[in-house]
Amino acid sequence: MQIIKGSRRNVLIFKNFVIKIPSFKRWVSFIRGVNENLEERYWYSADGSRKRGTKWNKSLRLAEIYYADRFGFIVVSERLDTSFLLNSNLYDEPVVEPSKKDKFEKDLNYLRDLFKGYQFYDDIDPRNVGYRGNDLLVLDYGYTPSTSDCYIGT
Ligand SMILES: Nc1ncnc2c1ncn2[C@@H]1O[C@H](COP(=O)(O)OP(=O)(O)OP(=O)(O)O)[C@@H](O)[C@H]1O
Ligand SMILES: [Mg+2]
Repeated sequence: MQIIKGSRRNVLIFKNFVIKIPSFKRWVSFIRGVNENLEERYWYSADGSRKRGTKWNKSLRLAEIYYADRFGFIVVSERLDTSFLLNSNLYDEPVVEPSKKDKFEKDLNYLRDLFKGYQFYDDIDPRNVGYRGNDLLVLDYGYTPSTSDCYIGT
């Protein structure tokens, strides 16, 4: 198991699934992490009926959520393949494996077209996407402007 410390959430990576919990490093990261988990949960159960999959659709280009609690403490979702990225360091420029670059750029632009107008659109970048087989999907779709620095500080 690998642990990735994102800026807002800690992500535990298992073979077939990932677990996202808010970061405890700073209060604001925690609040953002909770908010992002809840944003992602919107896709899991949009109407609060606790019935899974009201918004879900296998063809949705988003990593599938298997479980998300109503407090934003935990999101469990499918693990995607991010091996096209050569550097996994969150703070350096992402580098895509040269042989995969052309297809990757095309796939990324496809996602950007698809999700134009959604809150997480601005956050669609190489570190927030991954492959399920041949399809590139968004794996981090929790971003909202309301949790950006200008609203709740740093
Ligand atoms: N479903 C997934 N499959 C594979 N890797 C994942 C998945 N979800 C997250 N990761 C890995 O964990 C990292 C951080 O996850 P995510 O972007 O969802 O958290 P975050 O708190 O929003 O981080 P950041 O603020 O750095 O964007 C991703 O860049 C990716 O490398
Ligand atoms: Mg991210």
